[in-house]
Order: sequence, then C-alpha cells, then structure tokens
Amino acid sequence: MTILQIGSMKTEKTNKHLTREKLLETLDGKRAETLLGGGKNRIESQHKKGKLTARERLDILLDKGSFHELDSFVTHRSHDFDMEKSKIMTDGVVTGYGLIDGRKVFVFSQDFTVFGGSLSEAFAEKICKIMDMAVKTGIPIIGLNDSGGARIQEGVVSLAGYADIFLRNTLASGVIPQISAILGPCAGGAVYSPAITDFVFMAKKTSHMFVTGPHVVKTVTHEQVSMEDLGGADTHASKSGVAHFACDNEVDVLQKIRKLFSYLPDNNREDPPRIESDDDPARADVELDTLIPINSNKPYDMHQVIQLIMDWDSFFEVHADYAQNIICGFARLDGQVIGVVANQPAYLAGVLDINASVKAARFVRFLDAFNIPIITFVDVPGFLPGTEQEWGGIIRHGAKLLYAFAEATVPKITLITRKAYGGAYDVMSSKHIRADLNFAWPTAEIAVMGPKGAVEIIWKKDLMSVDNPEEKTEELVDYYREKFANPYIAAERGYVDDVILPRTTRSNLISGLAILATKVDHNPKKKHGNIPL
Ligand code: HXC
Repeated sequence: MTILQIGSMKTEKTNKHLTREKLLETLDGKRAETLLGGGKNRIESQHKKGKLTARERLDILLDKGSFHELDSFVTHRSHDFDMEKSKIMTDGVVTGYGLIDGRKVFVFSQDFTVFGGSLSEAFAEKICKIMDMAVKTGIPIIGLNDSGGARIQEGVVSLAGYADIFLRNTLASGVIPQISAILGPCAGGAVYSPAITDFVFMAKKTSHMFVTGPHVVKTVTHEQVSMEDLGGADTHASKSGVAHFACDNEVDVLQKIRKLFSYLPDNNREDPPRIESDDDPARADVELDTLIPINSNKPYDMHQVIQLIMDWDSFFEVHADYAQNIICGFARLDGQVIGVVANQPAYLAGVLDINASVKAARFVRFLDAFNIPIITFVDVPGFLPGTEQEWGGIIRHGAKLLYAFAEATVPKITLITRKAYGGAYDVMSSKHIRADLNFAWPTAEIAVMGPKGAVEIIWKKDLMSVDNPEEKTEELVDYYREKFANPYIAAERGYVDDVILPRTTRSNLISGLAILATKVDHNPKKKHGNIPL
C-alpha cells in the first residue's frame, strides 16, 4: 500500500466520524465558551462592582454588529503553578476590529473575569498583533483597560509582554491616534502604556491608576491615602493631569470616546473628517463686541468667546478639569476640525504656569502630528511668579509650549482678545514663531508688561517726588495704555496682520483656514528635536 493510499483511507475514516454538522457544532461550542470569559459567577461579580464586561463595553463603543474578533481561541502557554489545568480561551483580552460611525478602528478590551485581566505572554501577543496591524493599515487603536497587572504566574515573561506593548505605543505615537480607557485597576508599570497614548479616559469610582497602591505608599512614606484619592478619576483629571477625561460611568466613557473619535483623522497622512455644517460661516455675533470688560483687570469666560465663534455645539474640551487657566479642545469651523488653545482669564487671570504649559504643549503637538489646524486665543498677563513655579521649573516647562508652537507646521491662526504681555506674548503662537495669521481685537493690549507695572518702573523716581502718587499713577497708566497697550504698534510692524471687529472673527477664521488649506511648511531635516522635557 502506498503512502497516498493510506492517506485517502484515513480521510475516509475521519469523515465517517466527523460529519460536517459536528465540525460546525465544535466551532459553535468553542465560540460560545469564549463568549463566557471567566464564567457566569465572575461576570456577576463584575456587574456587582458596577462594571461592564469586556464584550459589553465593545458593544457600546462600536457600531452595532461591526465587531470582528481575532485570536479568540488563544490560551496561555504557562505550566508553572499548575496553570496548564486552567486555560480559558481569549486568555483575558478580547481583540479585533470594528467601526465607529462607519470608520475603522482596532480595539482591545481586557477581561477582568479571566485571571483578573492579568497580562500573560499570549495576552500581550494578541495586543501587539492588532497594534502592528493598526500601524500598517493607518487605523486608530483604542484600548479598554481593566487588569490586575502582570500575570504573577508568568513572571518576567509577562514583564517582557508589557515592554513589547510600550515599544509599539511609542512607535505608533504620531502615526495613528491611540486612545485608552481605564475601567478598573491599572497599577504598577502597566500604567505606562496608557500614559504614552494620546488620550486617557477614566470612569469615576470604578477605575484607578497608580504606580504603587495605598498599601505600599503607607509602608514607604507613612501616608494614609485611599485608592480614590491616590489614583481615582477625579485625582488624575484635576491634580496629576494623567487623565484627560473623568467620566461619570463606563457608558459615559465609551460614548465620549466615540465623540472624540469624530474629531480625529485615521492617521498622520490624513485630515480629520469634515462634516456638513448647518451653521452660517458668516454668522456675526454682536455679543462678541461687548464681551471684553473695559476694565482690563476684570475677568470674563473665554469659553463664551469660543462657543460664539465655533460651529454651534462643536466645542469638545480636553483636560477640562486640569490647569483651567488654559483651555484646550477640538471644535469645528464651517465643518472643518480645528484645535483650540486659549488662555482663560476667568481662572488665575489666564496666567501661564507649569501645568498650563505642559497641558497645552502636549495638545499642540498632537494637533500638529495629526494635521489639525491650531486656533489660539490670547489673553495672558504673563508667567506666574513665585518660588513654587521657579523651583518647579517653569522655565523648562514654559519652554515646552514655546517649542511646541514653534515647531508646528499645520495652519496656525492667533487671535489676541486682550492681554498679550511679555514672554507670554511670544509663546502664545505669535507671528515670530511662525503663526500664519495673527488677528487682534481693538481691546488688545500688546506690551512688555501691564500698564501699572510699567508705569511704576519707568516713572519710579517721578512718582516718588509728587504729592499725589496714586492720582499721578492713574494718569500715567492711561497715558501708557493709550500709547503702548493697544494692538496698533504691533499692527504697524505687521506682527498683527489685522485688527478686526470681534463680531467678524468667525468669518475671518473661516476664510483664513480656507486660504491656509494648501499650506506646506517643513522643519529642517533631523532625527528628532530635543524638546525640553
Ligand atoms: C494573576 C491575578 C492577578 C495577577 C488578579 N488576579 N490579579 N492573577 N496575576 N496580577 C486574579 C485573582 O487571583 C482572582 O482569581 C481574580 O484575578 C480576581 O482578583 P480578585 O483579587 O478576586 O479581585 P479584586 O478583589 O477585585 O481585586 C483586584 C486587584 C487584586 C486589586 C487587582 O486582584 C490585586 O491586587 N491583584 C494583584 C495586583 C498586582 O499586584 N499585580 C502586579 C502588579 S505589578 P480567582 O481565580 O480567585 O477569581 C505589575 C507590573 C507591571 O503589574 C510591570 C510592567 C512593566
């Protein structure tokens, strides 16, 4: 009997026992098993904690029925600690691709019901596989994190898996948008993958991020701190700046990710999707003409300026609770996505400090990496003085914002609404660091410093010799304001391209964006710059 004959006999015999129905049943059975994750009890316990399962989350994040799973039959390969006796398909992470509003996206969703969502070698390989596909295809990636960290039974192999992901996060940075949601624990070195991604969402009360937990903190520093205070959503969204969004619950996280996605391009070679706007591009809001208080020490809310100028309801703020003296967010002008960076006079008078500089610098770099034009609104009294700021390194942190604006080659339009003083004038996307169009409102005050400070220095001796220094100061402040603290000296030099009526701002920005649509600008060839980190 030849080998070929034996082969055909075997095939016949196999076919007798394994009918087509049985083959399909096997697949169905296995598929059903994968869908159960760690089993009913663990799913119940996940729900009791107020959390959704990995798959329920994907159902909300993605368009209905669009999810295609990959690697659902993967199991771990560990033999230590009797692990070969407990293998669960998927191995704790659901990976694949789907659609958000019809646009393609790669996703992974960690499954806490399987080994606490802990990361094994096989688990990391699954994530790396879709990360590699995402970069090759130029499609964004979203990671839903809910994990006990490195799979303890796998030891260093698990650490290697994390490093494989960190490397890919770094290489994908600036190539495709990367978004992270923290929907459970995320501790130790595991925090560094979300930290490298572009935007981090957290769910209030049910998600926590920290390098070391409360127990270790107590042992090392004797500080007593709760999980929530140490690494909850509010902490990271308002104190550390690690999270860009603190959402009310998981559903809110997933819906906000979908919203953010609508402002992002697929990759760094494409523009963000443009939509049809039903807001009149020539809409002239007269309210803008009277929005700036005549007394320049009085605050006003820059959000109002932004809302009145951008397409109705299009402003989507990022990092809203962190460093509120600067506002960052996405918006649309006549349907085109733009990024907004704006000083906020209603908070710390809109001063630039360490946190504001770092927050805005990273946002500006994101916009530049992903072809999103930058609209900058300026009302800045300068940098925040004091030892806390100086010792904290305001020089090097402020330099980050300067660097970010200066290196950005996307269309850049700047509008000075009121104060633009000192170094902060230069930093806030001034003409001198390559802004394309610089506008000012008639209320703009562009000078080395505010009128009062300037008067007290220039006329110090004169003021000491008069009987009524306060009255004289007021007189000189008026003189200085009229002479220097206005937009016209900068406009005379062409540092400001035009002084515009506030109500015409929207149409000026829209026509500015149109003329800049074909802008091409390059930085000198280099491996990469050395931003003052
Ligand atoms: C293996 C783990 C695990 C882990 C949890 N589980 N974490 N299995 N490796 N890291 C398992 C548990 O044994 C349990 O299995 C199931 O997941 C659920 O865990 P519970 O403890 O019952 O859940 P809960 O009470 O909600 O507590 C969640 C937790 C806790 C706070 C995350 O499990 C925990 O502290 N885990 C260890 C966290 C940790 O120290 N990880 C290593 C961090 S260092 P059963 O079968 O009983 O249901 C790290 C380094 C990364 O990650 C470095 C990257 C460079």
